Amino acid sequence: MATIRTVVFPVAGRGTRFLPVTKASPKEMLPIVDKPLIQYAAEEALAAGAEKLVFITGSAKRAIEDHFDTNQELEAELEAQGKHDLLDAIRGIVPSYASCIYIRQPAPLGLGHAVLCSRPVVGNEPFYIHLADDLIDGDEPCLKQMSRVFEAYGASVLGVETVDRSQTDKYGIVAADRIDDRVSRVQRIVEKPKPADAPSNLAVVGRYLLTPAIYDKLATIGRGAGGEIQLTDGIAALMGDEAVYAYAFEGRRFDCGSKLGYLEATVEFGLKHENLGDQFTDYLARLVATRLRG
Ligand code: G1P
Repeated sequence: MATIRTVVFPVAGRGTRFLPVTKASPKEMLPIVDKPLIQYAAEEALAAGAEKLVFITGSAKRAIEDHFDTNQELEAELEAQGKHDLLDAIRGIVPSYASCIYIRQPAPLGLGHAVLCSRPVVGNEPFYIHLADDLIDGDEPCLKQMSRVFEAYGASVLGVETVDRSQTDKYGIVAADRIDDRVSRVQRIVEKPKPADAPSNLAVVGRYLLTPAIYDKLATIGRGAGGEIQLTDGIAALMGDEAVYAYAFEGRRFDCGSKLGYLEATVEFGLKHENLGDQFTDYLARLVATRLRG
């Protein structure tokens, strides 16, 4: 299998949709049951072979660095109390062979700009980009599925899913020709088109596997929608030189950038949680029964 060694996590965004909870803490630290979104993100990337975890951060994001760092005081306390399960839960979130690199995005100039900030540490290799607020639950991690597509086609891959037509203005939207079961070749990509202008309802969600040629494009495209340097525009430019594929991944996506999607993820992950799942299922069943009666 082609090993993609680097993942970029753009985590500089303010998370205004979740205020006030995101006033002083990063939206990527919102928990789904007992792990923050960014930990699910790191676990997915590690499971897809990543060893270099590059976080593009901004102000009020220190908690992310602390989360992946060791906390010796806490470890000593848990050790002394014999709480070995909890020790395991906080140790080894990132295995010793992997490294975390933090780069500050100097100004909020958009997702494309955030990705461009990773250039000095990614170098001349294909790499993943993972947006932590798109949480994808599948038997095989989404990025791993995408690495198989990369291996088969040798070109950039975008994770896509169909969305309701009314939602096209929230996503990068692709027009693509189907070439295999879940794979299509992208013909066009547009950032957040109005439903009437959208070339399709196939949306790019927060998973990308890109060749390093994207960097030259991001460095030269200039500002697009919303006055920001858009990753979507960089990909559109890349398509002038290289094929780009869309991959309809297996698994369910939760839009944890929205409150409703976040609540849905919380419930679903609660239902299948190894320690809490049974009790939580009983609770929900009783709650629903009471509501239906009332
Ligand atoms: C970003 C991208 C968009 C993509 C989306 C996926 O938008 O610009 O192309 O479809 O992520 O979640 P954002 O959600 O940051 O506005």
